[in-house]
Amino acid sequence: MDGDLDQILITPQAISQRLDALALEMSAVLPGENLVLMPVLTGGLVFAADLMRRLPNRLTVACVNASSYAGARTHSSGNVRLTGLETARAAVRGKHVLLVDDILDTGLTLSALQGALAASGALSIRTCVLLRKDRPQASAFPVDFCAFDIPDAFVVGYGLDFNGLYRNLPCIATLTPQAIASGMADTKEQEKPA
Ligand code: IMP
Repeated sequence: MDGDLDQILITPQAISQRLDALALEMSAVLPGENLVLMPVLTGGLVFAADLMRRLPNRLTVACVNASSYAGARTHSSGNVRLTGLETARAAVRGKHVLLVDDILDTGLTLSALQGALAASGALSIRTCVLLRKDRPQASAFPVDFCAFDIPDAFVVGYGLDFNGLYRNLPCIATLTPQAIASGMADTKEQEKPA
């Protein structure tokens, strides 16, 4: 798997140090009661797990599932599919919500989630992302907390995938053009009619 990586943008040590500081900053402003931390699966899984263990706040956890990069894509499909919404809506009623996602790219995912939860009786909805890409759509979308600003590149690791792979990498990295081409070729092969 390491041979597929082009550039390591953020090391595991840098992630850990930044999360320590971010959690301190967040715990000072997040409510001490009635807080629900909502990981946006699957990409937000690793970040949320590491972040919540640094937050001393009294909180509950409820997950929601979103996808817009299904298959071997390096750009958003523009369609966000949300699942698990009924459970998520019930979990946020009368609570302060913290949505925890992996990356802010077009902002469509967080925007769709905010819209879907808005009428569910949440006391407030805050957003937190691990990464924010340096692109106009991402910069224009306000988030409450962001761990790292990165260049406008396709990245994997620490929860982020390409074609379902690389989520278990402990760092954030770009892929070689060969790894991307081979993931795309695999998908085309699987999609061929039998
Ligand atoms: P947005 O809705 O365009 O902001 O993108 C959010 C979702 O797209 C993220 O939660 C990721 O699942 C996926 N995504 C966006 N950029 C990347 C990337 O560089 N690598 C892997 N997944 C990405």
